[in-house]
Amino acid sequence: MDQRNDAGYGSSPDSHAAGPAKAPDPMTIRLRAAMAAAKYHGIELDPKTFQAEASERSPSPATLVRWMDDQGLVAKGMHLKWRYLVRMHNTPPIVLMFKDGSAGLFMSADTHRGVVWLRDPMGGESDPLVAVDELRLSQVWTGDVLLLRRARAGVEAEAPVDIRWLSRVVLREKSALRDITLSSMVLSVLTILPALIIMQVINKVVGQHSLATLFSITMILVVLTFYETLLSYARRELVLVMTARIDSRISIHVFNRLLALPLEYFERQQAGNVIGRVMQIYKVRDFMTGSLLRTFLDMFTLVMILPLLFFLSSTLAWMTLAGAGAIGLIVVIFMGPVSYYIGRVTAAEMARGSVLYESIAGIRTLKTLALEPARKQEWDEKTAEVTRWKLAAGRMSNWPQTIIMPIEMFISRGVLLVGAYLAVTDTTGTGSVGAGGLVAFMMLGGRVAAPLVGFAKLLEDFTEVRASLSEVGSVLNNPTETRALTTGMRPKIVGGLSFVDVNFSYPGAPTKALDGVDFQIPPGTMLGVVGRSGSGKSTLTRLLQGVSRNYSGYLKLDGIDMREINLNHLRRSFGVVLQDNFLFRGTVRDNITAGRPGLTLDDVVRAARLAGAEEFIERMPAGYETFIEEGSTNISGGQKQRLAIARALISDPKLLILDEATSALDPESEALVNANLARIGKGRTMVIVSHRLSSLVDCDQILVMEQGKVDDIGPHNVLVERCAIYRQLWLQQNRHMNADRNAGPAPMLAEGD
Ligand SMILES: Nc1ncnc2c1ncn2[C@@H]1O[C@H](COP(=O)(O)OP(=O)(O)O)[C@@H](O)[C@H]1O
Ligand SMILES: [Mg+2]
Repeated sequence: MDQRNDAGYGSSPDSHAAGPAKAPDPMTIRLRAAMAAAKYHGIELDPKTFQAEASERSPSPATLVRWMDDQGLVAKGMHLKWRYLVRMHNTPPIVLMFKDGSAGLFMSADTHRGVVWLRDPMGGESDPLVAVDELRLSQVWTGDVLLLRRARAGVEAEAPVDIRWLSRVVLREKSALRDITLSSMVLSVLTILPALIIMQVINKVVGQHSLATLFSITMILVVLTFYETLLSYARRELVLVMTARIDSRISIHVFNRLLALPLEYFERQQAGNVIGRVMQIYKVRDFMTGSLLRTFLDMFTLVMILPLLFFLSSTLAWMTLAGAGAIGLIVVIFMGPVSYYIGRVTAAEMARGSVLYESIAGIRTLKTLALEPARKQEWDEKTAEVTRWKLAAGRMSNWPQTIIMPIEMFISRGVLLVGAYLAVTDTTGTGSVGAGGLVAFMMLGGRVAAPLVGFAKLLEDFTEVRASLSEVGSVLNNPTETRALTTGMRPKIVGGLSFVDVNFSYPGAPTKALDGVDFQIPPGTMLGVVGRSGSGKSTLTRLLQGVSRNYSGYLKLDGIDMREINLNHLRRSFGVVLQDNFLFRGTVRDNITAGRPGLTLDDVVRAARLAGAEEFIERMPAGYETFIEEGSTNISGGQKQRLAIARALISDPKLLILDEATSALDPESEALVNANLARIGKGRTMVIVSHRLSSLVDCDQILVMEQGKVDDIGPHNVLVERCAIYRQLWLQQNRHMNADRNAGPAPMLAEGD
């Protein structure tokens, strides 16, 4: 049964340390190579934590990747050609997968001589490297490699989503930012020059009728235009690439954090609301790479142009500045009210989004109960709300725009008039700008207002973005499970369970959901759990799965406190089937493997057979490749449940939890699953929660729960005599038999199920 290779491997390193008594098997070599590569990154992998897939003779890259991902490394399996390998310089060691299931350790390459330098994974770090050429390598190498790097420090992955984190993400694009800044500075200069040249044209060419000057000036302008175009193209390209990179970083981080939130969090929240709040991050992203960047870049233009304006005419420059300043002031004054309304719009949109999400998620209930009118009404109300706030926000921001308009006009037209007035009235010639100067001023003055107004708007955006960011943070900055998922012990799990005085209450609940629960069962036990609705049966299984960890007392697995065990490891060693299970869109086979690597069709068939699903799968039109639609509409409840059981069984879990897994089934499907239970339970511990006692009669032990307390535990025939609650439940469910025989429980027992 137990085909796991880790036990076999456990002894190998020791035998190796003792001396090369026997040749190490390929699997050991492969693990050794992976460990050596990891060590280069300062991470010591413990081979005992390695869990091979049952069907693998030697670990596949996918299995290795999963192992390493758990241990603070980022591993990537890929296929590589010799010609790329031989060009690798200054790379960390790369694990080369060999055809016999072992592996080599690539250290460096000599492109000129056409050889790569390998190290014997079983050797020490000081062993001489071996040069291997293309021919020799191709005889053993599959072409698959494993690339490793250290995962970013835990702090990075754990970083809360806030302004500091965002700035770090943006500032990591140092080189792109530097290039963009540089090109912006040059561009600023390039925008000034044409204005100056035009000034010359008007003053000299028009004034002195010099065609030769016009020609040379035209040439200069053409060249300038060419460079300006080229540089703008380059800058846009740089911004694009940088934005895309920042974008993907943000997306990845956000999703990682979302998935790291404990199940408990999602149970307390409205899904639509969570989605809406998380999506706010894209507003923040737009701000960072949009208006923030643009204004920052515009600032350069400002710095370049302002002195020039003062040089041309300080009176006009001051006027322009005053106008721009007034605009900025107006924007700032209206900032508060406008952002208030925008906040309202966002909130209203999120509320409406929730209605949409809920309607689609619950579409079946909605349709079968003909709830459309009610939902429509709700949608209408929410839409009205959105519209109302949008209008209000629009009206509010219409005001500053209206007030700003004459000031903008003043900057462009008023300055011209004043300039002309100055030119006409100035007799000394000192304050005059001349016709050319005036035109140049006009060309540049507009560029001063834009960045100043942009800066003021930035402040406005900033308040909005802060609000969005806090929305995102209110979801993502909740305590995550990451620590529990990445740290902790990874013992080999056998399946002995004990509860030691476990108390637990749900947050905000006045009574305890579990009250002093205390019992133990040896590995391989089939434990039935019964009790009235709300007696704490599901809570018990939830604690086992590590959904909630803030209980008091101890929950031990094979004598180890469960809180000490790595949560990923724990959940991978467990199988869980609930009353209603979610099947993903995809084939039957995909659903059974559920994306776990290294599983073959044989494994799938074996799991399906064990779950009693084989016969109906084979009757399906495309067998294991039959496509299951969203919401598993094309299979029956019983079939879905058996698929869920197969999915739980495929990884050969040492502990299988069935929480009312057969309760919603028709009697025939239930009988089918129950008939298989004994077979399923072979070699593992089972916890079967069911309110139908007849399906638990064969259990080794039955736990009777009552109001969060353990009322009794024992096999069926003992309980039926000893435990009042159990007897009562039993009689309730078997009244027909009772009435027929008019006898006590004991004779009924013989009839059993
Ligand atoms: N997510 C939850 N939040 C708050 N209280 C809960 C939650 N789940 C269950 N409860 C409460 O805990 C008690 C035990 O529930 P549960 O373990 O689901 O009972 P059972 O599975 O035996 O029907 C009940 O009183 C129930 O109301
Ligand atoms: Mg329950």
